[in-house]
Amino acid sequence: MPLYKCLANTRLSASVYHNFTMLKLWICCALVSFASAYNHGEAAAEFAAYVAEFGKTYPTTAARNNANYYFNYHTKLIAQQNALADRGASSYRVAVNQFSDIRLITFAARLPQAVYPAVSYNSTPVEVDTTVADEIDILTEYGLNVTAQDQGTLCSASWAFAAAKAIQILNAVPNDLTPLNYSAQSLIDCAGMSTACTTQVPQIAFDYLTQETGTTLIPEEDYPERNNSLQGMCVPTMAAAGIKLDTYSRITDGDDAAVMRYVSSSIPVIVEYNPATFGFMHYSSGVYVPPVRARASSSQFLVVVGYGHDTESNLDYWLCINSFGDTWGEEGFIKIVRSSTQPIAKGAIFPNSLGVVTMQLIF
Ligand SMILES: *[C@@H]1O[C@H](CO)[C@@H](O)[C@H](O)[C@H]1NC(C)=O
Ligand SMILES: *[C@@H]1O[C@H](CO)[C@@H](O)[C@H](O)[C@H]1NC(C)=O
Ligand SMILES: *[C@@H]1O[C@H](CO)[C@@H](O)[C@H](O)[C@H]1NC(C)=O
Repeated sequence: MPLYKCLANTRLSASVYHNFTMLKLWICCALVSFASAYNHGEAAAEFAAYVAEFGKTYPTTAARNNANYYFNYHTKLIAQQNALADRGASSYRVAVNQFSDIRLITFAARLPQAVYPAVSYNSTPVEVDTTVADEIDILTEYGLNVTAQDQGTLCSASWAFAAAKAIQILNAVPNDLTPLNYSAQSLIDCAGMSTACTTQVPQIAFDYLTQETGTTLIPEEDYPERNNSLQGMCVPTMAAAGIKLDTYSRITDGDDAAVMRYVSSSIPVIVEYNPATFGFMHYSSGVYVPPVRARASSSQFLVVVGYGHDTESNLDYWLCINSFGDTWGEEGFIKIVRSSTQPIAKGAIFPNSLGVVTMQLIF
């Protein structure tokens, strides 16, 4: 097992699988702590293990060496942050992941700040009960087997992944326990226009899916293009299980109480979040608390699927699904601190009613 996995460590989890993994990590870390100096040969082996694990390829030796430099640099910062967490001085942990070989500034630049369209066709939201649950996780509430998708590292397509994920969950509640995945790629290709991999927003996916021309959200297995990394040609696709969106609604920036009301009513809410920090980039577990000032401003759309209170850190949190796959965060999920000084409601939008599926070829 590479050293970076030990340095990263992971949270204690209730599941047997995790306990087993933890035990392996603990033994490995104990052994490592007895080991002598971390020399160049070991460092090179660590990077080779990383390259293999994440299927990395570099066009030139210079590019590989640069990636190796940032991998080593981040490995050090990761150990420092986790040492803070070990002492109880931080509420979250970080780990090596698919982004560890690039600079924070490069990561930030690949997720440019979203640009909102001038016109919105949103509907007035349905009134929901103002008495909210103390805590909820929509997925465990219904036993939904919903996983985080992976947008890759090259296309800033969280707008499409979040839109597809929110609709998948809304459609699955209450009893489609292992719902199909829906194709973010079809949204990137067919709705993303010229900014699909840069500054696009979820509203564009919802505008596309509410069109009267029969456009639907296509199951991943029915959409022929599955690159999940770049924008391709829109492939007109007919799918019996396609989902039509009737309307969507917005929540005013800063109105976290409204986010809570809808999530408490089992309606997933998409929010825009600034991912341009070392902590978010490498987040692996715990309650993430953003720094007061981030160095850059980027956009990543997350789906809020719950909220609660973490007894270990004594912090309230929002539970969100990201689209960095399951190699990031708590198997693709993140707990973000829930506090009035750092509202989660930014660009918040949610699908509110799904339409009847019409069998129609879309063009
Ligand atoms: C969850 O879905 C996957 C397929 O995506 C399946 O392999 C797994 O068994 C499911 N788990 C449960 C608990 O239903
Ligand atoms: C949905 O996608 C995830 C990640 O890509 C995968 O692990 C899971 O099996 C898929 N679920 C289904 C029902 O196909
Ligand atoms: C996506 O993959 C297909 C083959 O799997 C390829 O023909 C196509 O060019 C790829 N598209 C992009 C944008 O890379």
